[in-house]
Amino acid sequence: MRLSLLFRVTGIVIFIQLALGGLVTFDFLGPIIHAATGVLVLALVVVVLAMAWRSKPAFPPLRGLSAGLVTLVAAQILLGLYDLRTDSQIVAWLHLVVALGIYGMAIAGSFMAMRFDHMRSQAPASAPPAQTA
Ligand code: HEM
Repeated sequence: MRLSLLFRVTGIVIFIQLALGGLVTFDFLGPIIHAATGVLVLALVVVVLAMAWRSKPAFPPLRGLSAGLVTLVAAQILLGLYDLRTDSQIVAWLHLVVALGIYGMAIAGSFMAMRFDHMRSQAPASAPPAQTA
């Protein structure tokens, strides 16, 4: 699978996760499904990071963004678990703010990865032979 496609799929799953979170907040849904999709999001961003890390040529901005996404999603899961234990409004607010950051990074990453895939497809298969005078 191409990195840009995986980023887009991840962005869609994150969007659904935000919508499920809203349903939990307004008591339309218990937290189990939302927590399970949180683990799915973590699995997706780990695969994104692995692909970004292994892609050739290296594209450091995409690697950094993917590493940031994994860190934020892991922190988000901890915040969600803490929120379940404490029912704290501050933690719920932090959970919302981090969710917005995660979504924004997923969208930015999708565009970066599209550009990266495009650059790779335009690059010549091998370097041209060196010119001798
Ligand atoms: C990628 C991971 C996650 C994202 C993007 C996410 C996003 C959200 C969003 C946008 C909300 C609604 C706004 C809010 O109340 O903060 C929410 C609510 C909530 N989430 Fe998550 N969430 C994630 C993972 C988890 C996990 C793993 C758990 C629990 C184990 C969890 C537990 C909750 C709870 C309990 C609420 C209701 C908060 C309240 O109203 O007190 N979340 N989530």
